[in-house]
Amino acid sequence: MQYIYLFGYPLGHSISPAMQNAALVARHIRATRYVKNPLPPEKMREMILALRAPHCLGANVTVPHKQTIMPHLDELTELAREIGAVNTILKKDGKLIGDNTDAYGFLQALRVRKIRPQNACVAIIGAGGAAAAAAYALAQNGAREIILLNRTLARSIELADRLNKRFPEMELAVNDWDALTRMHLLINATSVGMAPKTDESPLPPRYTISRSAVVFDLVYNPPATKFLRDAKLRGARVIGGLEMLVYQGARAFELWTEQRAPIQVMRRAASKALREMQEHPRGA
Ligand code: ATR
Repeated sequence: MQYIYLFGYPLGHSISPAMQNAALVARHIRATRYVKNPLPPEKMREMILALRAPHCLGANVTVPHKQTIMPHLDELTELAREIGAVNTILKKDGKLIGDNTDAYGFLQALRVRKIRPQNACVAIIGAGGAAAAAAYALAQNGAREIILLNRTLARSIELADRLNKRFPEMELAVNDWDALTRMHLLINATSVGMAPKTDESPLPPRYTISRSAVVFDLVYNPPATKFLRDAKLRGARVIGGLEMLVYQGARAFELWTEQRAPIQVMRRAASKALREMQEHPRGA
C-alpha cells in the first residue's frame, strides 16, 4: 500500500480525503490511499520522515505548514517559490519537490464561470498563502490592478513588494479600502466566515459591495458565507470556495498519479462530504 498524506493542524474539517480517495477508486488505483496526518508545527521532523518513507507517494500541505515546510524540501517549482507557499509535494527520484496547485485551482474556478482576469481590477482580502496564490494567478493572467487588504499591514506590504518586483507593470495598492467600490472582482482569501464562525464577514460593515462586482470567497464551509450572502443581497454575482478546492485537488491528483483527474467524481465526493459535515458538525 502507498500513501498520499495530508499534513496540517488541525485537520478535522478537511474534505480532501473523501475527494481524493473517490478519485483514486474511480481511476482503479487501489493500492494508494489519501490519509490525514495531523501534525502540529513542532513535529516537522516527523513530517519529513513520513514524506521520505518509501511507501509515501506525495502529500498535500495545509495550514499552518504551507510556508514552514519549504526549507525542508529538496526542490521547489518556480511557481511555489514565487507564491511563497507549498500545498502539494511530489516525489521524483526520491527527491521531495514542493509545488503549488492553489493558483491553478483559483484560475480554473474563474474559468468555468467564464470570468477573465485580463484587465480586471481586483481587491484581495488577506495576505497569506491563499491570497498570494490568487494574486499571482491574476497577475500572470493580465490583471490590471490589485488592491491587497489585510488585517496585518506588514504582511500585505511584503506581498505587494514581491508582486511588484515580478509584475512591475501591474498597479498595486495596499489597504486602500475606499477603492473597493470600483473593483470588478472582490476576493476573500482569509479564514474569516469559516465554520463555526459563520456570522463573521471579512468586510467591515461600513463598506458595501458594488452590484456589478463578482465576489469570490475562497472559504468553502459554509458554501454560502456571510460575505457571499451580503454580496448576493446587493445583487452581485457570487462564487463559493468549493470549486477552487476541487480544481487544486484535481491538479495535485494528476501530479501524483500521472492520470487525468475525474473532476465530476471529485466534485460530487467533495460536495457530499461537505453536506455530511454540515449535518454532523461535531463528528467532522
Ligand atoms: P492561508 O495559507 O490559508 O492563506 P495564512 O497564511 O495563515 O493561511 O493566512 C490567513 C489570512 O487570514 C491572513 O491574511 C490573516 O490576516 P493576518 O495576516 O492579519 O494574520 C487572515 N485572517 C485570519 N483570521 C483573521 C481575522 N480574524 N480577521 C482578519 N483577518 C484574518
